[in-house]
Amino acid sequence: MPHRVLITQPIDDDAMTLLDAAGIPVDVWPGPEPIPRAQLLSRVAGCAGLISMLTDPVDGEVMDAGPLRAIAQHAVGVNNIDLQAAAERGIPVAHTPGVLTDATADLAMALVLSVARRILESDHLVRSGEWKGWSPTLMRGMELRGATMGIVGMGRIGTAVAERARGFGMEIVHHNRSSGVPLDELLRKSDVVSLHCPLTAGTRHLIDGRALGLMKTTAVLINTARGPVVDEGALVDALSAGTIAGAGLDVFEEEPRVHPGLLATRKAVLLPHIGSATTTTRRRMGHMVVEDILNGLRGEALKHKVNPR
Ligand code: DGY
Repeated sequence: MPHRVLITQPIDDDAMTLLDAAGIPVDVWPGPEPIPRAQLLSRVAGCAGLISMLTDPVDGEVMDAGPLRAIAQHAVGVNNIDLQAAAERGIPVAHTPGVLTDATADLAMALVLSVARRILESDHLVRSGEWKGWSPTLMRGMELRGATMGIVGMGRIGTAVAERARGFGMEIVHHNRSSGVPLDELLRKSDVVSLHCPLTAGTRHLIDGRALGLMKTTAVLINTARGPVVDEGALVDALSAGTIAGAGLDVFEEEPRVHPGLLATRKAVLLPHIGSATTTTRRRMGHMVVEDILNGLRGEALKHKVNPR
């Protein structure tokens, strides 16, 4: 079966040993920046398998350049892959659902706590030497017990966030395509709005100026899903106008570029898309993509095939 596989970032070492054991020749783009388009097209030539990252636009041209027989995406979100082009070519696409649920839900809660309790502002105050001592009015934030958490997208990760938020005594409301409350109602009611929907044509800029305008002035927005679900310019305006109180963001519209208005405000906590970044989860993700690329090269069914939307 030795067909070449292109991997567009280094992945977990332990997962790589599975490819070695199968005697598969592998080309790994060394990163850390995403593989440039020209490199992707030239290096994928002669490869039957592609292990892609969420930063790689994988379209028909890339698929034909292989020509590819299988794609395994090292992420659960697959908005960077042209699934229709893959279907037209009969190329199966796998991803990594399930294994990153807890890590991502934990990070969403870390952002909730950071923004609600003003952790970065407080850290800055201590380091700056400006802290004058304990005070009843210093750095007052949001009490989570009794606050309402609105979850947009009650899939695996949204459900895991709800489970954690309940542990903090929060009330949960959710909005899904086919269940829960209407989005506008969720936005009006929630003290924390946490986004967990996939990026699709229907969710791009789901949280725009109008949606932000419906939120409470004391509410915070958490995004660990995909940057373009939020209109970043509108978010900057909402934060500076006091339309909402804060934001915790792990994802951005044009990563790694971040809107200068977000970089400038202390009302937002900004992370470099690390939702699934635990050693355990990244190892599991690595194993999943390698196992499925091997399945694809053998002509067998992929275990974690992306469901058509
Ligand atoms: C995903 O899997 O889609 C995450 O964003 C990557 O950690």
